[in-house]
Amino acid sequence: MFVFTLVTTSLIMVQAKKCLNDSPQITPEYHLIRKCQRSQLSVAAKANYTTLSSCKQFGLDKRALSLNFSPRNTNGRRWKTLEYTCEVLQCAETDSGLSLTKDVRYDYYSIYGNPMPTVNSTCVPTTGMFYLVAQRMNYTEAEKLCQNKSSVLAEISTEQRTDTLAQLLADEGEDSAYVSLKRSNSSNFITSNGDSLGCTSYRAWAPGHPKRGEKFDCVVITKHRTWRTVPCDESLAALCELKPSEPNRKRNLFRNVNN
Ligand SMILES: *[C@@H]1O[C@H](CO)[C@@H](O)[C@H](O)[C@H]1NC(C)=O
Ligand SMILES: *[C@@H]1O[C@H](CO)[C@@H](O)[C@H](O)[C@H]1NC(C)=O
Ligand SMILES: *[C@@H]1O[C@H](CO)[C@@H](O)[C@H](O)[C@H]1NC(C)=O
Ligand SMILES: *[C@@H]1O[C@H](CO)[C@@H](O)[C@H](O)[C@H]1NC(C)=O
Ligand SMILES: *[C@@H]1O[C@H](CO)[C@@H](O)[C@H](O)[C@H]1NC(C)=O
Repeated sequence: MFVFTLVTTSLIMVQAKKCLNDSPQITPEYHLIRKCQRSQLSVAAKANYTTLSSCKQFGLDKRALSLNFSPRNTNGRRWKTLEYTCEVLQCAETDSGLSLTKDVRYDYYSIYGNPMPTVNSTCVPTTGMFYLVAQRMNYTEAEKLCQNKSSVLAEISTEQRTDTLAQLLADEGEDSAYVSLKRSNSSNFITSNGDSLGCTSYRAWAPGHPKRGEKFDCVVITKHRTWRTVPCDESLAALCELKPSEPNRKRNLFRNVNN
């Protein structure tokens, strides 16, 4: 344990420059999804901003997945009946768009610009949208399966993510699932998008993990809020995370909303 700590510390020092330059997470963008529609999903925060860009920045600060913004009306004025111009939301509309209602005062924006894949995803408020694939597969297959559905294997690099995703596993009666962490060399792990674990400080390794030796190159999250190293050819469930995306305007995002 002592030796491992030393190795980790020196790695952080070696990579300090890289980590400072590269933001560990890609900053999501809010894309216009529906004009004259307002989502009824839970509000993370609300405020009176005159510009869309301030509202979007407010959304990022509150880690909102979507937002309702009220632009000036056709007379160039603000709507009189408005409480706040900017409502940033904890979650985002899924495929059915069921929480959207017609409301000429607002436009709806989301970090998920494309139709959701045909999966029942669970929103972890102000974090993202996730789904468990209970089908058994090896790590490579798990990566591919998530990719096939506009997703990636789930990131677990914060305490909030580890705790909420472990709960998702527990709720679905699954012991463990592959996540986005794989050994890159004898002393380091990287995520699917190439971020080094050395760039973050939170760890949730189960006692005795990470196990040494090349047979234990892939990582699972457990329902007990821990991470474990496993052989990459082990057949296990997978935890996927929807990727924020640019809208593809050729397709109608919500099946059940006509506007
Ligand atoms: C926000 O702005 C709107 C429109 O200008 C105004 O009607 C409303 O009273 C303001 N809300 C608050 C809480 O200040
Ligand atoms: C999503 O959940 C609903 C209700 O539980 C179910 O009817 C539907 O088949 C599920 N869809 C998928 C793609 O799993
Ligand atoms: C991914 O999608 C392609 C094309 O639809 C399909 O051939 C392939 O089997 C899928 N792979 C997985 C792992 O689901
Ligand atoms: C391990 O990989 C990281 C980046 O992924 C690199 O910075 C580091 O030098 C590597 N360490 C060894 C011992 O190869
Ligand atoms: C995963 O399974 C695929 C298909 O069965 C196989 O081609 C691949 O070598 C396996 N990868 C690992 C790491 O076991």
